[in-house]
Amino acid sequence: MIKVAPSILSADFGNLQCDVEEICNAGCDFVHIDVMDGHFVPNLTIGPVVISSVAACATKPLDIHLMVENNTFFVNLLAPLKPKYISFHIEEEKHPHRLIQKIRSLDISPAIVLNPHTPPESIEFLLKDLDMVLLMSVNPGFGGQSFIDSVIEKASRLNEMRNRINPKCLIEVDGGVSNKNIHLLKEAGVDVVVAGSYIFKHSNRQTAIESLQI
Ligand code: DX5
Ligand code: ZN
Repeated sequence: MIKVAPSILSADFGNLQCDVEEICNAGCDFVHIDVMDGHFVPNLTIGPVVISSVAACATKPLDIHLMVENNTFFVNLLAPLKPKYISFHIEEEKHPHRLIQKIRSLDISPAIVLNPHTPPESIEFLLKDLDMVLLMSVNPGFGGQSFIDSVIEKASRLNEMRNRINPKCLIEVDGGVSNKNIHLLKEAGVDVVVAGSYIFKHSNRQTAIESLQI
């Protein structure tokens, strides 16, 4: 069954505790947290102060998605919050292999993110060291954008690669995910989906989460 990680970027930040508790009680699998620095992407979100409050009320593991220029700085800052995953963008890291080892040494599962233009083959030699690969199906920076269809073919190619090199490595897709594309994502071999606006704007968030857990 596909695992679901609601992105709290679409939550009500005035009532963050309520929203985090609601999605956890509604049966989500992870809580997805988008960390943006205003440099790698043209938006700013939250840091360790707010994320520690989320960690305190979340009953599901945290999935932290870094969209920042200085990955190592943010890994050091956020590691004490004990997330399950930290993912960083391959486009913004000169020494990805070193950073993967560092994240693992902190007892956190390392994951790499690929922007829509980045081919899965670019991480072929890192795949055996990764616990997850996150494919962006929008340009990172904002919630509520349209799903980029070419991610389906990319997920299929990555699925073939990971089955050959590291079958335990999960494939996650982030951006524009809804009940409209979930079946294609499942067919392509995707294991985890991130969904922000689809879940938080739905009149029944539990129904929305369950509609993706196919
Ligand atoms: C975009 C973020 C996503 C975003 C997804 O940069 O990484 O996690 O919040 O939001 P939706 O599901 O609305 O596209
Ligand atoms: Zn994200």
